[in-house]
Amino acid sequence: MTVLVTGGAGYIGTHVVRLLRAAGRDVVVVDDLSSGRAERVAGTELVRLDVAGPGAVRALGDVVRRRGVSAVVHLAARKRVDESVAQPLRYYRENIEGFAAVLAACTEHGVRSVVFSSSAAVYGDVAGGLVGEDAPTRPVNPYGRSKLVGEWLLRDVAATGSLRGTALRYFNVAGAGWPDLGDPAVTNLVTLVLDAVRHGRAPRVLGTDFPTPDGSGVRDYVHVLDLARAHVAALDGLAGAGTDAGAALVPPFRALNVGTGVGTSVLAVIRGLSAAMGVPVVPELVDRRPGDPAEVVADPRAIEAALGWRAVEPLDATLASAWAAWQHAHGGEGTGA
Ligand code: WQD
Repeated sequence: MTVLVTGGAGYIGTHVVRLLRAAGRDVVVVDDLSSGRAERVAGTELVRLDVAGPGAVRALGDVVRRRGVSAVVHLAARKRVDESVAQPLRYYRENIEGFAAVLAACTEHGVRSVVFSSSAAVYGDVAGGLVGEDAPTRPVNPYGRSKLVGEWLLRDVAATGSLRGTALRYFNVAGAGWPDLGDPAVTNLVTLVLDAVRHGRAPRVLGTDFPTPDGSGVRDYVHVLDLARAHVAALDGLAGAGTDAGAALVPPFRALNVGTGVGTSVLAVIRGLSAAMGVPVVPELVDRRPGDPAEVVADPRAIEAALGWRAVEPLDATLASAWAAWQHAHGGEGTGA
């Protein structure tokens, strides 16, 4: 049966699509191409559609019926924290109303499995140490709040018995599973560093007075390929619920962290990228960004117990793949050196 991937032409979505296709699964992509790229899903049906737009429920229902969709991976959303602060209503409309439309189409047409792209941003300011799924969810920006509400939508629809859902809380995603699938957005640390070096600028370290080993912020960087594998594992887990035995094992809804369980500092990421690029990188040390917690690292035990998934790509491979994809995207003239 077919898997529908919303946002399937995006950075993470294209990795999910490529893994599913490589496993022989039938896939259909829905994407509004506001940031996704059609060429990245060549060979897979792509329906251009804004899931938060007028008529989306009917259009999604038509795709579900026509392709015999049995499972949905919902990735279509806006994901920039700074943009969400400036445009909260846009984030609530696109991220919440969009997912509500997808869920309406699923319940109307008997889709029984939904995997939802959530975020570590639902935790907000964490106190340090490994973050488990039982940590308080106190998002501190509209992006994180839109993701938490998305989890509530999925949990409440699953409670009706019409479907089962898994929310995957992404920590810091980086790298590329294939050179043509690099992160096109220059909004997170890794691509910001690559972009600075390409333009001969010093990348900035936002704060060196955190209570961390080297004073810079610590995050959990997970290879996008490992993240995509987690989506496939989540789909398989939900499909297993289709059997009587499986149904007893799989709860209607669960949220699972997707991270490595290992923290890496900003300075260490910059050193790793410098090694991958083979050029020295001397960062500019500046003040903290408002609202940045010192450390956000996943406790990944729950997803391993539930799905048998754990991250396998080492950080140096993640960073090297990001550099290779950057060179692919920028014609090899990767550094300003
Ligand atoms: C990482 C670290 C910065 C830029 C994101 C988003 C969201 C979510 C989780 C999916 C921090 C530091 C950054 C720079 C720096 N993922 N930094 N210089 O803030 O952890 O949050 O990840 O939903 O994408 O919430 O990611 O890449 O912005 O920052 O020193 O120029 O790098 O302070 O410590 P963040 P980020």
